[in-house]
Amino acid sequence: MSDVKVLTARWGKKDSHTLASYKADGGYGALEKALSMPQPGIVEEVKISNLRGRGGAGFATGLKWTFLPKDIRPRYLCVNADESEPGTFKDRYIIENDPHMLLEGIAITCYALDIHLAYIYIRGEFPKQAAALEQALAEAREAGIIGKKLMGKDFDLEVHVHRGAGAYICGEESALMESLEGKKGYPRLKPPFPAVVGLWGKPTIINNVETLANVPWIVKHGGAAFAALGTGKSGGTRLFGVSGNVKRPGIYEKPVHYNLKKLIMEDCGGTASGRPVKAVIPGGSSSPVLRGDEIDVSLEFDAIKAAGTMSGSGGVIVMDDSVCMVRVLSRVTKFYAEESCGQCTPCREGTPWMESLCEKIEHGHGVPGDADKLLDMANHIGGFTICALGDAASMPVQSFVKKFKDDFERHIAEHRCPFGEGAWGVSQDSREAVIGGMRA
Ligand SMILES: Cc1cc2nc3c(=O)[nH]c(=O)nc-3n(C[C@H](O)[C@H](O)[C@H](O)COP(=O)(O)O)c2cc1C
Repeated sequence: MSDVKVLTARWGKKDSHTLASYKADGGYGALEKALSMPQPGIVEEVKISNLRGRGGAGFATGLKWTFLPKDIRPRYLCVNADESEPGTFKDRYIIENDPHMLLEGIAITCYALDIHLAYIYIRGEFPKQAAALEQALAEAREAGIIGKKLMGKDFDLEVHVHRGAGAYICGEESALMESLEGKKGYPRLKPPFPAVVGLWGKPTIINNVETLANVPWIVKHGGAAFAALGTGKSGGTRLFGVSGNVKRPGIYEKPVHYNLKKLIMEDCGGTASGRPVKAVIPGGSSSPVLRGDEIDVSLEFDAIKAAGTMSGSGGVIVMDDSVCMVRVLSRVTKFYAEESCGQCTPCREGTPWMESLCEKIEHGHGVPGDADKLLDMANHIGGFTICALGDAASMPVQSFVKKFKDDFERHIAEHRCPFGEGAWGVSQDSREAVIGGMRA
C-alpha cells in the first residue's frame, strides 16, 4: 500500500501556512497548469481520480460537479469547513497547516466550473482557523493569485470567509446555504439538490475542505495517479482522526482503503490502557459502532458499508473494555438532542426522548424492555426527517443497543452502572480521551 502523502506532506514545516513556503514547494503550480487546460478537461481528471467527498457521505466529487445545469449563471461554490461531527478533527488542521493548498483547490475548482464567487463556511468555534484563512486569502490577493484576474488570466474569483455561529446543523449542506443567506439554519427539502437550486436559488457546488484540498494534487499528477492510491471506486488517501483510548491519538493520512484494525493496533499503538478494544466508532459519532472483534475491515466507503457502518468523516473513536457503552450513548444522544434544529417532529421530539431514556438506564433507573423501547424510538426517527440529522441521531442508538445489549441489560438488572457511576474507562486519562474525542 502506498505511503504517498497528498495532504500532510508539508505539515510540521516551519511557516507551512505562508504563501512563501507554499510557493517554495511548488504551490500554485497546479493552478497555473489548470489555467492552461480546457475547463471540462479538469472536471474529467477529477472524475478519473475517483475522489469521493470527505464530508461524510462519500459522494463522487467529479460526478457531483457534472450536475450543474449548463446554461444558468451565476454559480457558486460553498466550502464546508463546519467540521462539527463529534470525533472529527481534520479540516481544522488542513486550514492551520496548509491554507494555501485549500485555496488552490478552491481556485482550480472555481475555474473548472466557471464559478466566480466562493464562500468558505467555517465553524463559529474556529476563530484561529478563520483568521488563518483570512491571512492566507490576503496574501493570495496581494500576490494577484485570487481576485481580479486569477493569476493574470481573464477570470475573476472572489472568496469570502463566513463564520457560523456554532450550530452542528449548519454543516448540513442545505442548512449551510440558509445560514449563508442570513436565515435560520433549517435544512431544505431535496430534491432539488444544491447543484441545481442552491445558494440564492442558483446552482451551487458544496464540498468539504479535505475534498477540495486534494484537487491541486490531482491536477498536478493526473486523476489516474490519484485513483491508483486508492482502490475500486475510491481514489486517494484520507485523513483519519483517531481519538479515544489509544496510545498515539492524532491524524493519520492513509490510503482510503486502509485497514481499521491496523490503524488502531499498529499506527496508534493499540489501547493506552493495554486492555482489549471493546468498541470503535469508525467515522464520526453518527456512524454505527463496531465491536472490538469486528474492526478487521477496510475503511473504504463501500467495503465498510458492507460491514454495516461507514467511514463518514474519518473520525475514529476507540474504547477499551472498561468503557460503559450506555454512558457513551448517553453522551452521544445528548449531543444530537441539543443540536436538532427542531424543524421535523420525529427529530425534535425523539432525540430528547432518547437522551432521557438513555440517562435513565445509565443511572440504574431503567426497567425491562427499555433497551427495546430505545431501539423503537430510533427506528421512528431515522428516515423520517428532512435531513440526515435524524439518521445521524438514530444510527448510534440502533447499533449500540444491538451490539452491546448486555451493557444495557446489566444496568437494568443491577439498578446501577456496572462500570461504576460515571465510568468512561480505567482511569481519568482514558475517560478524558473518550470524552475529548467526542468533543473534538
Ligand atoms: C447533520 C449533518 C451535519 C453535517 N456536517 C458536515 C460538516 O461539518 N462538514 C462537512 O463537510 N459535511 C457535513 N455534512 C455533509 C454535508 O451535508 C455535505 O454532504 C458535504 O459537505 C458535501 O461535501 P463532500 O461531497 O465534499 O463530502 C453534514 C451532514 C449532515 C446531515
